[in-house]
Amino acid sequence: MTTKIKHLLSIEQLSRSEIEGILQRTAELKSNRGKISAQPLAGQTWALIFSKPSTRTRVSFEVGIRELGGETIYLNAADAQLGRGELIKDTARVLARMIHGAVIRTYAQSDIEEFAEFSGVPTINALTDEEHPCQILGDIFTIIEKRGQIEKTVVAYIGDGVSNTARSWLFAAGKLGFELRIASHKKYLPKKKLVERAGGRVTCTDDVATAAKGADVLYTDIWVSMGKESEEARREAELGPYWINESVVKIAKPDALVMHCLPAHRGQEIDEKTFENHAQTIFDQAENRLHVQKAILVELVK
Ligand code: CP
Ligand code: NVA
Repeated sequence: MTTKIKHLLSIEQLSRSEIEGILQRTAELKSNRGKISAQPLAGQTWALIFSKPSTRTRVSFEVGIRELGGETIYLNAADAQLGRGELIKDTARVLARMIHGAVIRTYAQSDIEEFAEFSGVPTINALTDEEHPCQILGDIFTIIEKRGQIEKTVVAYIGDGVSNTARSWLFAAGKLGFELRIASHKKYLPKKKLVERAGGRVTCTDDVATAAKGADVLYTDIWVSMGKESEEARREAELGPYWINESVVKIAKPDALVMHCLPAHRGQEIDEKTFENHAQTIFDQAENRLHVQKAILVELVK
């Protein structure tokens, strides 16, 4: 019997079979894009409530929801009464009377959990300080698309090891069994307790070469995530050695994938040449956000 996912709030809350179900549906939706007329979101209106900027996530959700027959409303949280202090639990109960689902990008993970609880409508995490599940599901789909599997893959994450993407990778490793190595400055490595909680085959190191050696995937994200701007100077100084460049690529497997969740800051977490050499993979990753999010939406409303 297949289970129904009610919300997509974190990778941690998904089971392995739920992840596999999403990935399988992603493949179907990608190969059938434009060919099928099924509109599982017909008659529905989904709210996109964003407290942080976005290009990929906003556009891929807006396009994806429309392709599935639904409508969207984009709400900049600062322009709503939320920005003037209306409680999340009240906002959630109001919106639940009107919308069919919510896609939320915000700071605290607890805020989307609260929204999901009080609204009762399907709620999707479009990035919080803790997790970026849609990104990592799209990235895993990209790896499987290019390499045929994820279980035997060694993923080396180089950069800010305590970012939302790093944390989602941690939980994904625990669920899917692939090897994850995180290389960062000691101050930006995930806490031992979190690594244990995730439960995967995970190595944390402050040595880039140790993480990159023989890796199948070199992955990075920006050093200064949204909301961390006040730490910019310190992070740039401390994370200086934790970037993907030509010499790091040479240590990895000869056909290693270089991946970036975007937006990229060339000269920081990745150099220009490496980025452009691997642009095909990186922009495939960006495109796959659309397909994986459509799959998530279908799983939530089926
Ligand atoms: N990768 C990602 O989520 O990009 P946006 O911030 O543009 O949505
Ligand atoms: N870690 C980054 C991801 C951007 C898509 C951030 O939170 O800003």
